Amino acid sequence: MKSIVITGGGSGLGAELAKRWASLDKHVILVGRTKEKLETICTEIQEQGGSCSSYTCDISNYTDAKELYTKITNDGHTIEMLVNNAGAGAFGSLEDIEEEAIHSVIDTNVKGAIFLTKIFLPVLKQAEGRIMNIISTAGLKGKKHETVYVASKYAVRGFTESLWKELEGTGVSATAVYMGGMDTPFWHSTDHIKDTSRLKSPAEKAKQIIDQDEGQQEIFIDR
Ligand SMILES: NC(=O)c1ccc[n+]([C@@H]2O[C@H](COP(=O)([O-])OP(=O)(O)OC[C@H]3O[C@@H](n4cnc5c(N)ncnc54)[C@H](OP(=O)(O)O)[C@@H]3O)[C@@H](O)[C@H]2O)c1
Repeated sequence: MKSIVITGGGSGLGAELAKRWASLDKHVILVGRTKEKLETICTEIQEQGGSCSSYTCDISNYTDAKELYTKITNDGHTIEMLVNNAGAGAFGSLEDIEEEAIHSVIDTNVKGAIFLTKIFLPVLKQAEGRIMNIISTAGLKGKKHETVYVASKYAVRGFTESLWKELEGTGVSATAVYMGGMDTPFWHSTDHIKDTSRLKSPAEKAKQIIDQDEGQQEIFIDR
């Protein structure tokens, strides 16, 4: 069975994309740093009749990311799609954002997506597979008190648009996905958004992404 690797699959949008793709008979491979979260979602998927595996990995660590690739391929999975979804945020005035948070956002959102894409590209080429990069409307316009996060998402947008050109003729396609706020654990460690219950559910956004996905270069859920 062909598999979809989803980073950040243990919560929020990644978990909802996984559940939906699993319901469409895809084998989903969840990746994240917290084993329990991944196993909870996998169990839920399996109880619904879906097929799921999970692997812990810190995608911002290149050695970890290489080991992830080795484990997944040694386990015999055929990868048809990589979804770079895992993300971290840092909000507030730039002067107040701690150095550690800046590293976390850039290392996860930018380096993590680049590392995994680079490492999985050979198998994606063999499968004529796909890359889907979950960006945000933060990759489309600047926002107050989101400097670092927006910078990271513009970087992933530039990365994706460059992949379009670099991967021409290889059979591998790359899709950039832009969406606005979702009510997920992403907002738990900040008061940047006061009432997250006003935001759309990640399940709704996951459905919109998969319904609209026809392998095109860009999917705009919100602008
Ligand atoms: N929520 C929103 O309003 C919103 C809007 C637009 C776009 N987005 C984007 O949507 C994507 C998913 O976010 P979400 O809202 O679903 O948030 P979320 O529930 O916090 O999901 C992020 C996931 O990424 C994983 N993760 C974080 N750092 C990681 C690392 N270094 N290595 C591996 N996994 C890591 C986290 O799990 P562990 O901590 O266990 O590793 C978590 O499961 C992100 O790219 C985010 O920027 C979110």
